[in-house]
Amino acid sequence: MKVVKVNSYEEMSAYIAERIACQIKEKPQSVLGLATGSTPVGAYEKLCEMYKENKVDFSCVTTFNLDEYYPINPDDKNSYRYFMEEKLFSKVNIKKENINIPSGNAPDAALECKLYDEKLEKSGGVDLQILGIGVNGHIGFNEPADTLCSGTHLTELAKETIASNSRFFKNELEVPTHAITMGIGSIMKAKSIIIAANIKDKKEAVEKVLGGNITTSCPATLLCAHRDVTLVYYG
Ligand code: PGA
Repeated sequence: MKVVKVNSYEEMSAYIAERIACQIKEKPQSVLGLATGSTPVGAYEKLCEMYKENKVDFSCVTTFNLDEYYPINPDDKNSYRYFMEEKLFSKVNIKKENINIPSGNAPDAALECKLYDEKLEKSGGVDLQILGIGVNGHIGFNEPADTLCSGTHLTELAKETIASNSRFFKNELEVPTHAITMGIGSIMKAKSIIIAANIKDKKEAVEKVLGGNITTSCPATLLCAHRDVTLVYYG
């Protein structure tokens, strides 16, 4: 694992944005795996600026988001679909048909998961995956457990995740209890992965990743078995 320690959120965001821009420059038809949450917001802002300055072109890019609450209406301002539209997609020249996010209002979640995996497979796979890390070490919504799912699946959110995500809602009771998430297998298939964190908030989880021992009780440690992962952190 390559470890990049930076001094601030701004530096971390610039690093991630630069890696994404380089990826797209090298391969204009790149497939990007994208994350939501506070971690990547600065990188998306930077990419929007780069797009305005003609430094990056999303016209041939395909994206797959990691996860979406379930059930949730895609127009709900707490949906990850809304988040991505607001922070990135509406501000760059990505084609609507190249955007993939699990549907929060699909009538059949199991079918939605199956179709998502098929689309991922058909795309040729993710070239560069961006990940945040949960306070409990989750990646996507793959929560600590005795066993972890490989493919896209419907999952129940851990207590810590609901508590942490309640900052975006009126209170904890409003946070959806379930989500559709890409599985560990889908994440590990990405050719390159960047996992980013503020070590102050995610100290325990980041230290476990840095420790190098793999355990399903901290799903992010699975990344230690991947051949091209960069951990970028500050704090
Ligand atoms: P955050 O969440 O970026 O909002 O800290 C990360 C995560 O839960 O994966």
